[in-house]
Amino acid sequence: MIAKAEMEASEIGLIETALEGWRVRTTEGANKKNEYVQLCEAACKENKVFQFFKQDRRYQEILEHVELEVSMAALERIGNLNPQIIQNYKKYLINDFLGAPTTYNVKWKSGSPLAPEEELELSNISLSTIRYMKVLSDLVALFGDLENFNIVEIGGGYGGLATVICQEFRINKYYNIDLKWPAKLAKKYTRILGFENFISLEPPQIDSFSSRLNGDAIDLVISNYAFSECNEKTQDEYIEKIIARAHRGYITQNGSNPRAKRVFGEIKKTKEDLFIFDYDVTNRRHPIFTFGADDYVGTRENKLHED
Ligand SMILES: C[S@@+](CC[C@H](N)C(=O)[O-])C[C@H]1O[C@@H](n2cnc3c(N)ncnc32)[C@H](O)[C@@H]1O
Repeated sequence: MIAKAEMEASEIGLIETALEGWRVRTTEGANKKNEYVQLCEAACKENKVFQFFKQDRRYQEILEHVELEVSMAALERIGNLNPQIIQNYKKYLINDFLGAPTTYNVKWKSGSPLAPEEELELSNISLSTIRYMKVLSDLVALFGDLENFNIVEIGGGYGGLATVICQEFRINKYYNIDLKWPAKLAKKYTRILGFENFISLEPPQIDSFSSRLNGDAIDLVISNYAFSECNEKTQDEYIEKIIARAHRGYITQNGSNPRAKRVFGEIKKTKEDLFIFDYDVTNRRHPIFTFGADDYVGTRENKLHED
């Protein structure tokens, strides 16, 4: 059925190699994704591009486009779960040192019983850093201490979430799997910031991932708006080779409800305790799929909202 609209780059006459597994439905979408990959390549090769990559329109089509209202909603959620992450926000500002992001002074007024009536101005912070702080807060609420974990992130962008998580916990190994040039950009970014245990891999390398782990566990798999943007074949490979082998998981699932339902069903086959922890703070309310949160005492939804 044509209405399924699950087109591959090759079907619309584009060369897919640069977008390995990234789902494209229109020529315009494919062009934006190709431009993003090209910009990542330029930022890897030329320091003058790297210095300002977060300001580049081609980058902002894919990442670095968080809205102020979304950040305010994220702060409210963090305040309800882990206000100390907001109180200690300065340690996450390292994520704004590189790539010249647009930064803001953002006021937070707590309505949380954990920090009653507290008010704070977060100075010179990017809205993306706030978004990553929200993910960190969710991870702490779900899994507690991540100290010494081996983490795999699928589609980690420039490594912003890794940077924020590494301010909080000593991570044993942080594997980021992304397309060639975004993966290299994340490696460059984290290397400059001094994270030696950050390893960038490209999608074909997941075939040999088990031997790379050399018996180590995958303590946590994370993917925000990346695994969910892959085509079905690639998603199924990630489920088999990474997600099924991970002890814990946190996956923000953007995309249509039927696609989210399919993925929920496929992951559930290997992770019986899969549940919907929450919906993200955008208007679209994307579900956050979670498993392995044994000690989490909050509600565990099992059914997706209908569109
Ligand atoms: C919308 S961005 C999200 C980036 C990051 N997770 C974040 O939340 O800021 C989507 C990411 O998925 C990556 N990606 C695309 N195809 C991929 C694939 N087959 N495997 C892993 N990552 C992929 C893109 O390069 C990009 O970094």
